Amino acid sequence: MVKEITVSIFRYDPESDKHPSYQTYSVPSKERMLVGDVLEYIHENLDGSLAYRWECRMRLCGGCTILINGKPGLICREQAEPSMTLEPLPFLPIVRDLVVDRKSLLDKIYSVPPLTRQKSPVRLPEPIAHEVILGLRVPRQCVQCLACVAVCPATEVLTADLFLPPKLIQIAGFAIDDRDTVDRVQESEESNLFDCACCHACEEVCPHEINISEKVITALRNKTYEHGIGRGGRYIKAFYDTLQAKGKVNASGILLRSQGYLRAIMKAPQGIRLIARGKFVSPFGKPIPDIEDIRTIIGPTEQEK
Ligand code: SF4
Ligand code: SF4
Ligand code: FES
Repeated sequence: MVKEITVSIFRYDPESDKHPSYQTYSVPSKERMLVGDVLEYIHENLDGSLAYRWECRMRLCGGCTILINGKPGLICREQAEPSMTLEPLPFLPIVRDLVVDRKSLLDKIYSVPPLTRQKSPVRLPEPIAHEVILGLRVPRQCVQCLACVAVCPATEVLTADLFLPPKLIQIAGFAIDDRDTVDRVQESEESNLFDCACCHACEEVCPHEINISEKVITALRNKTYEHGIGRGGRYIKAFYDTLQAKGKVNASGILLRSQGYLRAIMKAPQGIRLIARGKFVSPFGKPIPDIEDIRTIIGPTEQEK
């Protein structure tokens, strides 16, 4: 076993420091030492000024997420490595060192209206279907640790104002509940449900292994399809139409076809961010050279049928 852990830690106090810096510490290694244990050792024995968050220590409060060698993780869950760089989550204001101000994102997540019922007062015991109870377990597992937000490409492109996986998890929790009367389809569309790339990056870092793509995104999308082609179905049709027409997935083409010119114009800020990140593909470009191969695989266009 390695005798010492070398850890380089991001240090920054916005009230007194002009720039962030990294400080390196050596910590005696113990078996099954967690990242939180390393930070606690430093705080108690080497440097009492180090700030980090470490509350429930049971993966339940979600407050201890930092970047561990560039990957988001809970310090009460991740095993310490012989050499580590520890940094705060990248997209939130820094309070001090590894502590960030999570309030702005938590406010957005909790802005989802709670369960509302048609009948009031509720007569107890209230009957709830077994499938609903099973389905509710998924969103209840989310501890709002924000690890998924740190790796989500949709959040990176759209910003957390427009796309926030834990917010969609909250919506999904209410959407499967028959007693709920809020229009969760509209709510999920307004939360840009169809901008999820289904890349599974969020699942790789989620400490509770929530299958977001399937149990949240796909479940909510299926719910929107129940409302017909006018809603989620328009997006799927636009996806296939752009693929058949050009042979490649084209976000701008999908946006124009699924939402119309007016809503597409309203989403211009997203388009500008796509351009800035080199991810914009013109909807008016030529098809790829092997377009016929694509059409053979996915079928003829509407006009050819
Ligand atoms: S699957 Fe969707 S929510 Fe998860 S990281 Fe990818 S784009 Fe984000
Ligand atoms: S889905 Fe998982 S990673 Fe995302 S906030 Fe909830 S617990 Fe954290
Ligand atoms: S300390 Fe609460 S989740 Fe890690």
